[in-house]
Amino acid sequence: MMWIPPSLPRTQPMARMAVLTSGGDAPGMNAALRAVVRTALERQVEIFGVQKGYSGLVSGDLQSMDRASVANILYRGGTILKTDRSDAFKRPEVRAKVAADLRARGIDALIVIGGDGSLTGAHLLQQETGLPVIGIPGTIDNDIYGTDDTIGFDTAVNTALEAIDRVRDTATSHERVFLIEVMGRSSGFIAASVGIAGGAEIVLTPGEPVDFDGICRALAESKARGKTSSLIVVAEGDDPDLTNQLTRHLNTHGFQARAVILGHIQRGGTPSGHDRVLASVLGASAVDHLLAGYSDVMLGVRHGDIVRVPLADLIANKKPMPAAILELAKLLAT
Ligand code: F6P
Repeated sequence: MMWIPPSLPRTQPMARMAVLTSGGDAPGMNAALRAVVRTALERQVEIFGVQKGYSGLVSGDLQSMDRASVANILYRGGTILKTDRSDAFKRPEVRAKVAADLRARGIDALIVIGGDGSLTGAHLLQQETGLPVIGIPGTIDNDIYGTDDTIGFDTAVNTALEAIDRVRDTATSHERVFLIEVMGRSSGFIAASVGIAGGAEIVLTPGEPVDFDGICRALAESKARGKTSSLIVVAEGDDPDLTNQLTRHLNTHGFQARAVILGHIQRGGTPSGHDRVLASVLGASAVDHLLAGYSDVMLGVRHGDIVRVPLADLIANKKPMPAAILELAKLLAT
């Protein structure tokens, strides 16, 4: 997919910007950072990298970045700026001090690369202090309202798929049922994509009731049709014990079941080409949006276009899981 950054007029006299990565790291954050730094320098704007997300803003840990400081990071997972989930930044008085400190350093605007919690922090900072902010969606979960895609999602899906393909070999050889738990917090986007792409027999996403006996019946029917092994993809959801409970249930009802919890393996690793391009386009465009006077929005993508999503909208809305995707996963599994 190729996204075309809009060409924007430069209307704001900005001399300095800061950028940070926040929340869970996601593959492609470095590519976004590289694009922010190099675009800012190209536009004669000095750019400061903030260490460890909002914690670095609070402690004043900022460094001026040059083109060389982002060399050879495009293909690296994680984030060279490091990241954090800061409790201190949740306090309004801390946000007020942070904005005053940034202004004292001559920094005119902030770019935040992170998930919905991090973008909520950016919105509050902007609303309370007037400091211009632009958000870039960076999370493997793809659970941010207003954008079809987030930086890191594609890589995480491919990482999970690689694991699933391996597990499929053992499931087939031993005629077993494997439950594979994927990340996604309380959303099921990774699970649904991985379920379809990995040919899972059952996909369990948050918000859907889980009928243990119904699953046993479905597996028994599939066995009767000649399927000797099955994969169940489980979104981690809100119940940390669901995968283990279901595994125990299946084992006491005549199946040989095993659980595989993929965990943080999905967060690391080299970003896919898709995520590198998405991150590069959004990173570069974030700088140009600030210079064109935009603020308090996240840049996202919808139907192939770059869109601006008011941060207030993404905070107020939950991204819906399209029912058609779950139906497709079911249809293809039978
Ligand atoms: O938001 C990304 C994510 O990996 C979620 O999928 C997961 O629930 C959470 O972060 C794990 O967070 P932590 O790394 O703090 O345990």
